[in-house]
Amino acid sequence: MEDTVMNLYGTPNQTLTITDLQAMKVKGEKISCLTAYDASFSALLDEIGIDVLLVGDSLGMVIQGHSSTVPVTVDDMVYHSRQVAAARKRAVIITDMPFASYATPEQALETATRLMQAGAAQMVKLEGAKPDIIRFLVAQGISVCGHLGLLPQSINYLGGFKVQGKEPSEAQQIIEEAKKIEQAGASLLVLECIPASLTQQICQQLTIPVIGIGAGPDCDGQVLVLYDILGISIGKQARFSKNFMHGANSIEDAIRRYHQAIKSQQYPDLEHCY
Ligand code: KIV
Repeated sequence: MEDTVMNLYGTPNQTLTITDLQAMKVKGEKISCLTAYDASFSALLDEIGIDVLLVGDSLGMVIQGHSSTVPVTVDDMVYHSRQVAAARKRAVIITDMPFASYATPEQALETATRLMQAGAAQMVKLEGAKPDIIRFLVAQGISVCGHLGLLPQSINYLGGFKVQGKEPSEAQQIIEEAKKIEQAGASLLVLECIPASLTQQICQQLTIPVIGIGAGPDCDGQVLVLYDILGISIGKQARFSKNFMHGANSIEDAIRRYHQAIKSQQYPDLEHCY
């Protein structure tokens, strides 16, 4: 890491890179990640010291009011990614490749190029076991984050937001897919909504940082949807989620509590695991 100017919150004021996230994994320092969709929250999260801002296609649900992430377009992701990038100083920005925007290597390259050039993303995230697409993007110098377990873009195929990998055969398949994603050159992996015991096995076999959402405490970092931790998402909340506004005196205080709970390994607790 370069200059070590401290900001108002006493956190270092330099831009993180994937190398820093890898070093955090090696040191055993948990990586804090939160979704962000606009400049105001980007600035606040960044000041507090959140390590990774995920411009998630969950914006289709929490910003646009859809019942899934399927309607989100590349234009939507570029628009929100650019807003987040405009205000961040230190955090790594990962932007989701939306539904059906990476069906072929050529289409994936076109999408990633737009997210990086117009959206200022540092890394792109794509759902599912797509090692060939990942390998192709990495060969063009693009940093890629994989995503396994519950895949929200496949919700119509999966038939609902359900825990994945409970059956031994499914669990084995997710382990094999995680290894293939790492071998294809991915820099990070998100695991969503899988049993904590399965996460533990995956983390033992990978060297890249693993970020969990409903995947238990053994991940190298945790991510949640910003509006869920602020208690303003519509509908029933997932078991793994936590409203950090409870006991907090402001939005800023709630986000700081979230960040500290990850760093001190107080979140996720047993009640948030499968
Ligand atoms: O879109 C999103 O917000 C995500 C995470 C919650 C992992 O992909």
